[in-house]
Amino acid sequence: MTDDLYPVGADSRNDNRDPQVTEAENAHVSSAWGGSDSAPVKGEEILRVEDLTVGFPTEDGLVRAVRGVSYSLHEREVLGIVGESGSGKSVSSMALMGLLPKTAKVTGKAIYRGKDVLTMSEGEQRSLRGRKIAMIFQDPMTALNPVYSIGDQLAEAVRSHEAISKKAALKRAEEMLDLVGIPQPSQRLRNYPHEFSGGMRQRAMIAMAVINDPDIIIADEPTTALDVTVQAQILEKLIEVKDAVNAAIILITHDLGVVAGMAHNVLVMYAGRPVELGSTDDTFYGPRMPYTAGLLGSMPSMTGADSRLRPINGAPPSLINLPSGCPFNPRCPLATEKCREVEPILTLTDHHDHLAACHHWDRMAESEDPTAFFRAESEDAL
Ligand SMILES: Nc1ncnc2c1ncn2[C@@H]1O[C@H](COP(=O)(O)OP(=O)(O)O)[C@@H](O)[C@H]1O
Ligand code: SF4
Ligand SMILES: [Mg+2]
Repeated sequence: MTDDLYPVGADSRNDNRDPQVTEAENAHVSSAWGGSDSAPVKGEEILRVEDLTVGFPTEDGLVRAVRGVSYSLHEREVLGIVGESGSGKSVSSMALMGLLPKTAKVTGKAIYRGKDVLTMSEGEQRSLRGRKIAMIFQDPMTALNPVYSIGDQLAEAVRSHEAISKKAALKRAEEMLDLVGIPQPSQRLRNYPHEFSGGMRQRAMIAMAVINDPDIIIADEPTTALDVTVQAQILEKLIEVKDAVNAAIILITHDLGVVAGMAHNVLVMYAGRPVELGSTDDTFYGPRMPYTAGLLGSMPSMTGADSRLRPINGAPPSLINLPSGCPFNPRCPLATEKCREVEPILTLTDHHDHLAACHHWDRMAESEDPTAFFRAESEDAL
């Protein structure tokens, strides 16, 4: 294990960051993530994203979609990336897959098993994609080809990376359909995507993702298009299959509830930046960034008496004209003058290995129920 797994100090391009946060404090944060006795999950680090930024030049100006994302992923880990729509979750993952449009300006590093995928040749990226790093998208219909049978598509996914016969590839496809819980897989191989239900198509996508025995599965809102009961079954299957092939998962979702039972660690994104990173339990039971508390407060409560949804007021900022200071300040019930002037960087909180980008995380720590900050505000507004 290295001693700087989490390069928080890599934020140096951020010109309005908090001058109070010294390099020494950043070093402290780094070692908190890297110490061998404090590793978030067992297993070796397989991916390390360092200060990833993505900008899209447009007629209206530069869309700063991703602004300094850093994390590390370990073998077999499930990392949840959570945030409202437009927070940069998909773009940060597409960058890893080399799937962004050519116009995108990408900086930073994404070290997969010692090699930076961002500077690999297109050929190298292609051979990694779908083999060692696989992706599951929200809408399987856009990823599956309507004119080929499911079996042909699965077999082709194998044969594009491995020199084996079609018969052997179809055999593996059948095993994979069985693994993801599709009954009568040998017959189902002959079906076309439109002959599968939404849940079955997503199972087929999971089969496609794991057929080449990947190290990492990036699942981008994999169940958002499905109804709630099917969602739960698919997520359960995803975890089962990931364990069967020993892969790690980056699970992207706008729904904190989805990561609750599944992820070891959670990265919360807001306006292109990570604003909270910690174990799922710490983040759920003791959020240290008001935005996360707001997301928790807007989840349907389990106790029927208090089941009202409490959305965070306002909308995320424009990524072309970000507000000064903390980008969440126009929506934050705890915002102070400092918040309007200085953008906070991720800093270690009172919890072990739990980082938050908030000047006032200590107020969250003092509160018995941090979601109450949002409750009070929205109830006043009613
Ligand atoms: N090709 C593009 N050109 C310009 N802006 C883009 C492009 N792709 C994504 N964006 C913008 O980048 C931001 C982040 O998008 P995305 O990562 O898809 O958000 P999320 O997945 O969190 O919903 C959004 O504001 C989106 O409009
Ligand atoms: S830095 Fe200030 S505005 Fe931003 S989340 Fe923390 S309290 Fe709210
Ligand atoms: Mg997305």
